[in-house]
Amino acid sequence: MENKLDKLNIVGIAGSLRKGSYNRMLLEAAKEIATDSMTIEEFDLSGIPMYNTDVEKSAVPEIVTEFKEKIRAADGLLISTPEYNYSVPGVLKNAIDWASRMPKDTPLHQKPVAMMGGSGGISGTIRAQGHLRQILAHSNMLDLKKPEVLVTKIQEKFDGNGVLTDDALKQHLIRFLAAFENWIRIFKK
Ligand SMILES: Cc1cc2nc3c(=O)[nH]c(=O)nc-3n(C[C@H](O)[C@H](O)[C@H](O)COP(=O)(O)O)c2cc1C
Repeated sequence: MENKLDKLNIVGIAGSLRKGSYNRMLLEAAKEIATDSMTIEEFDLSGIPMYNTDVEKSAVPEIVTEFKEKIRAADGLLISTPEYNYSVPGVLKNAIDWASRMPKDTPLHQKPVAMMGGSGGISGTIRAQGHLRQILAHSNMLDLKKPEVLVTKIQEKFDGNGVLTDDALKQHLIRFLAAFENWIRIFKK
């Protein structure tokens, strides 16, 4: 029988591919903070090709199968994303499009998910996260509603080595990850 306090296994994805991504730093910070309660393993979206139904029908790319199986085996999905043009970056939407297939067999169905994001300005990805919730609803994902992680001026929160230096954000991440853990455990009962 499963011990309900077993460490949770989480897949983390960043909606930015660039090396110096602040949103990946945020994911890394979450990974470090969460060590007691969950293991967060990042899945790099950079190798996922653009979604194409013809490709899907002939042979689903190996990396997509791997991505879907990692999600299927995980207790939850953690997304850290920037906002692009008031919405979700194409790379993130594309990965979700692949993972949402086929609708009757998607690993996203009833999978707990939490999101966080940061931008250089003062909106903290609020519009992107609103769109993201709508996108995830199509696959019936179980999205944590609160607390939200909307990081403004994210470039001021990390040092040159990508280490989180903002204590208020660190404390907020601790609360957020605890809430995510509790959220996941509701569905594991
Ligand atoms: C194509 C593009 C569109 C952007 N659109 C927005 C936007 O709508 N709102 C916003 O707050 N920042 C926007 N930004 C700025 C990002 O918030 C900023 O570059 C952020 O650091 C990117 O995240 P990253 O560091 O994880 O790559 C945009 C950046 C790019 C490259």
